[in-house]
Amino acid sequence: MENPNVVLGVTGGIACYKALELVRLLVQDSCAVRVVMTREATEFVRPLSFQTLSGAPVGTDLFSLTQESEIGHINLADGADLLVIAPATANVVAKLAAGMADDLLTTVALATQAPLLVVPSMNVHMLAHPMVQANLVKLRSAGYHVMEADAGYLACGYEGKGRLPEPPAIVEEIRRLLRPGDLTGEHIVVTAGPSREPLDPVRFISNRSSGKMGYALARAAVRRGARVTLVSGPTALAAPEGVKTVPVVTAEEMRGAVLAEFDAATAVFMAAAVADYRPRSASGNKMKRSEDNLRLEFIPNPDIAAELGARKRHQVVVGFAAETESLLENARKKLHRKNLDLLVANDVTQEGSGFDVDTNAVTLLDRDGTVTPLPTMSKDTVADRICDWFLRYKKHPHRRGA
Ligand code: PMT
Repeated sequence: MENPNVVLGVTGGIACYKALELVRLLVQDSCAVRVVMTREATEFVRPLSFQTLSGAPVGTDLFSLTQESEIGHINLADGADLLVIAPATANVVAKLAAGMADDLLTTVALATQAPLLVVPSMNVHMLAHPMVQANLVKLRSAGYHVMEADAGYLACGYEGKGRLPEPPAIVEEIRRLLRPGDLTGEHIVVTAGPSREPLDPVRFISNRSSGKMGYALARAAVRRGARVTLVSGPTALAAPEGVKTVPVVTAEEMRGAVLAEFDAATAVFMAAAVADYRPRSASGNKMKRSEDNLRLEFIPNPDIAAELGARKRHQVVVGFAAETESLLENARKKLHRKNLDLLVANDVTQEGSGFDVDTNAVTLLDRDGTVTPLPTMSKDTVADRICDWFLRYKKHPHRRGA
């Protein structure tokens, strides 16, 4: 998008001063920036500083006749390609989660049709508070993009999570969100989460997958214009906006749901951690304790990825490999054995990588032998990198597997 209109909401936290640098970087990046400050934010930084850097009047007051005629909350809302709130205090997060509109910024936030990026920054204990966390979950499930706060030394004297991410990282996230709908016309099936294989009515075999990687893929693909079907094992995550979510429990159910969509799909991204084995039979009643050892017999589950690899015609099939040793060697074997187009090799022993964290460290393995290690990054960014790879791959069909 050329010269996108970014409305930057600044709320009253000490990290306000970093928002000045954010404006400078955005203007340098050819964005037209309109700043809206809450009254509390003006206690930290003068509006004149933002006005000078953005080259545009700064909105501070919903009820000022001059501002309403010169700036206008509906104009701001309608003209925005993206609304970013950085720093976002616990107070504004709560107001957004409650759908309140009691000042210029929250009114613009409710009125705009543009995507909304919230960048929380606050004291470590405030951020960890269950109310704040519940509000952030609410925002995410309403389709807001929420950036993770950084950890480190906080202005309040504590060490921990709550710092505003550095402005270049926020600009990177803004660029990501402003990317055009380059996946329009694609139908992407994403698998996510664990499978659960029942032992009896109350017990099951499963694994630590939270679904975060798969849900990030679904969000990225739908934001970039694809029609997305998310086949999800049991997770605690809210279904992403605009995505057809098909809940499943067992590997067999996941196979059925994926195959039902496969013919019409153009790609399948398989981030789910599917159980390789399931109990031969599940007891109809809760198994009773006894003094004897318990022996269970397991039988192999269908390998959905391998089945798709064997069936694929026009579809591009991307698999993941969660590995704890010999990462590349094991991943390469899976790429070829399952006849996949790309293997995302995931070292799940590394800190900040793998199960149930918001970041991931992966290496992309192409069929032509290309190995692309990516640094630790948010699962949202990993998801975008996989979408970028898919688009490049489609342009070079000669690189495709058998
Ligand atoms: O969900 P999160 O908490 O965000 O964690 C993300 C993740 C670690 C689960 C994810 O990044 C990941 O690595 N997913 C693949 C996990 C896995 O089961 O790997 P695997 O090596 O066992 O399987 C290889 C591929 O075959 C995978 O694409 C898997 O979906 C698929 N598979 C596996 C077994 C099976 N019976 N059928 C399959 O389709």
